[in-house]
Amino acid sequence: MSRLLIRGGRVLDPASDRDAAGDVLIEDGVIVAVDADIDTRGAEVLDAEGVWIAPGFVDLHTHLREPGQEYKEDIASGGRAAVAGGFTSVACMANTQPVNDDPSVTDFILDRARTDSPARVHPVAAATKGLAGEVMTEMVALVEAGAVAFSDDGKTIMDSGVMRRVLQYSRLVERPVITHAEDRTLVGDGVMNEGPVSTRLGLPGNPAVAETVHVARDIMLAEITGAHLHVAHVSTAGAVELVRAARERGVHVTAEVTPHHLVLTDEATSGYDTNTKMAPPLRSADDVRACRQGVADGTLDAIATDHAPHALHEKEVEFTEAPPGVIGFETALAVVLDLVREGELAPLELIRRLTTDPARILSLTAGTLSVGAPADVVVVDPERRWTYDPSKGYSKSRNSPWNGQELVGRVVASVVGGRMVYHVDRGVLVQ
Ligand code: DOR
Repeated sequence: MSRLLIRGGRVLDPASDRDAAGDVLIEDGVIVAVDADIDTRGAEVLDAEGVWIAPGFVDLHTHLREPGQEYKEDIASGGRAAVAGGFTSVACMANTQPVNDDPSVTDFILDRARTDSPARVHPVAAATKGLAGEVMTEMVALVEAGAVAFSDDGKTIMDSGVMRRVLQYSRLVERPVITHAEDRTLVGDGVMNEGPVSTRLGLPGNPAVAETVHVARDIMLAEITGAHLHVAHVSTAGAVELVRAARERGVHVTAEVTPHHLVLTDEATSGYDTNTKMAPPLRSADDVRACRQGVADGTLDAIATDHAPHALHEKEVEFTEAPPGVIGFETALAVVLDLVREGELAPLELIRRLTTDPARILSLTAGTLSVGAPADVVVVDPERRWTYDPSKGYSKSRNSPWNGQELVGRVVASVVGGRMVYHVDRGVLVQ
């Protein structure tokens, strides 16, 4: 029998509303006790004195790039970067090459993940063939293969009739439809938030209304179909308000926000750094404030990284030409701890947005320290200072806005299925 005791930490378990000192005992991959002063005999001991013990983080929104773009990332490197950031379960988007619009691709991703990734990987299948927004995918077959949700992320389903049918059919499989809400006709050739900063920089703007118009449409379609709509990477005050109001009148809508949209504004693009370019773009200070409020009151259920690796040669071009996206696994925790430091969110609530809430959205048995649950656990030092150097990280790509910056808060260890797969002093420990 294998026994691992994580000892002497502040145990933060949103599923049981627990925020108290204690130990977590794991036997054969399962949590068997959460208590004060558990007997250590026969157990490997991981010291968590003075730091946090929490469920492993669940990331609803990542791009692992395999199959097809392994020069940016693959399931092995992405899985390592995930556990180094505390994410023990990740959902990966369908914009691979080929697109994950067929059970054979879903199978391939799951096979690869089993052998290559220290993090658990859950494929999100495309909602339409080739992400073209025209013909629906075979949802039942994709769910049978292991898909946990449907999304054309990276592309917007512009045809409202198609989106309505996608939502209707998603009810058959009881899986959420994740919308990338950017009306393409309003985005136009916009590459950053439309406003005073884009005017000053002379860059084409992507207006906030491109998001809000689309969120409004999708909420209306979710309302008439009764389907579960999940709004990806909310970036605008208007979208937060729409989700809040829809939820209040009983629409089944959930939403996520990225770490970067919680702390950076469009001012970050002032130096034309292509590592501040993503879709949706960084917004105004008012939008950031609204997103933070949305996380605080639970309107935005989940914090999701939208980890989107791109190679150096792709990002070292003019701002207008660079692909959108930033990597995010290894910096996410430090970045979002800002909400705790600013007194806007209690630690337990921050952990909830990283664990219980995203797990619920995807119906995963993860994100909890309940006795009997799979032992996916993180140890977090919220005070640890470190300088982030993406070239020393686990992702194959380096496109981070936090390159070279001092960050506060770091994952000390990640445990997946009872096995320690990452320790900050020893690195990734498997594969
Ligand atoms: O910034 C982004 N990058 N947004 C997306 O929706 C897609 C992603 C990517 O795949 O690079």
